[in-house]
Amino acid sequence: MTKPLNVGLIGYGFMGRTHSNAYRKAPNFFDLPYEPVLKTVCGLEEDQAKAFAQKWGYESYTTNWKEVVEDEKIDVVDICVPNNVHAEIAIACAKAGKAICCEKPLALNVAQAEEMVAAVEKAGVPNLVSFNYRRVPAVTLAKQLIDEGRLGRIFHYRANFLQDWTISADVPQGGDATWRLDIKAAGSGVTGDLLAHCIDTAMWQNGPITSVSAMTETFVKERMHAETHKIEAVGIDDACTFMCRFDNGSLGNFESTRYARGHKALYTFEINGEHASIAWDLHDLHRLSYFDHRDDSIVRGWRSVHVTDGDMPYMDKWWVPGLQIGYEHTFVHQVADFLQSMAEGKPAAPTFRDALATQKVCEAVLNSAKKKSWEQVK
Ligand SMILES: NC(=O)c1ccc[n+]([C@@H]2O[C@H](COP(=O)([O-])OP(=O)(O)OC[C@H]3O[C@@H](n4cnc5c(N)ncnc54)[C@H](O)[C@@H]3O)[C@@H](O)[C@H]2O)c1
Repeated sequence: MTKPLNVGLIGYGFMGRTHSNAYRKAPNFFDLPYEPVLKTVCGLEEDQAKAFAQKWGYESYTTNWKEVVEDEKIDVVDICVPNNVHAEIAIACAKAGKAICCEKPLALNVAQAEEMVAAVEKAGVPNLVSFNYRRVPAVTLAKQLIDEGRLGRIFHYRANFLQDWTISADVPQGGDATWRLDIKAAGSGVTGDLLAHCIDTAMWQNGPITSVSAMTETFVKERMHAETHKIEAVGIDDACTFMCRFDNGSLGNFESTRYARGHKALYTFEINGEHASIAWDLHDLHRLSYFDHRDDSIVRGWRSVHVTDGDMPYMDKWWVPGLQIGYEHTFVHQVADFLQSMAEGKPAAPTFRDALATQKVCEAVLNSAKKKSWEQVK
């Protein structure tokens, strides 16, 4: 019989839902070494925690995360709270010997991320950071094609993550719904929230980023704070553009903003190599665009690969060729991979240490923008 694995979820918001859905679905589609049991959920509001527990099938609920960490029955703690609460909970979990799945970005800054890495490595607990876009089958396939050498030497990596939801100066900062605009809760703006995803995927596919030159802008300088109702200076970056060099000699170009009218969550990347290029678009996430210069010239051109066949990453676990999957499935893949790695006693990527590398790039980007200089990534 499959061994039960008791899950304690902290945070019942957007990510709390995606992760809960993943724990429920993963055993139906993957042959897992453990059976996830939704043991307890924690969040700030008791009535909402209770309603969430009922809706998703958690056995209990609490408003005190320490109860989850101290509960001896809990095997895995899943951290889905705003960025400023990640470190304290994760370090306590490590000390209590829990396996940890933590949402991204790992921490508010590099110093905090280093403490978290030290804590999980000292305790030897399984740890994973939820950079879920790695687990879109088309994105995983892109990594596979690069690793197979199909692109040859890589010259360029460019990525964008565009949104438009903070253009109005009436959007407040802080509080439950808009903590992302409050520097104290978020640590940074689009750099940690959106570019962290692009950086994680880019370094996974194309190796380490060694130096960066960035510019950031805060278009709306003051906003009302949702908790104090006072007008306060905005500390986050609303938009960020940076150039970079990768260790393999290729050049990178990254852009993110919440001021690109018409775009809700347009994450795209394009990679240009000596023989071939790859492009991907979150709005068409089951397709990978591929151009191979080695094709006969009379049929050479960009092809749109429908990533649904059973020999493509993760797809043998889902429907039949031609039928696609979507956003929620990235989290199902994450749960499946995490549990499998745990059973095998292997690290599940991206680990806290991998996410620390992303945090270092984010910090170098923010420092570069502030100092108007090229920064080495330490
Ligand atoms: N992987 C992704 O694509 C992705 C997408 C969105 C958010 N995130 C990350 O997930 C995390 C949560 O984001 P969200 O959008 O789900 O936020 P959210 O605002 O929807 O939910 C946050 C939850 O945290 C709870 N919470 C806040 N402080 C708490 C505390 N001290 N103790 C216990 N519970 C507390 C709140 O009650 C709420 O349930 C963030 O780190 C964010 O960056 C990742």
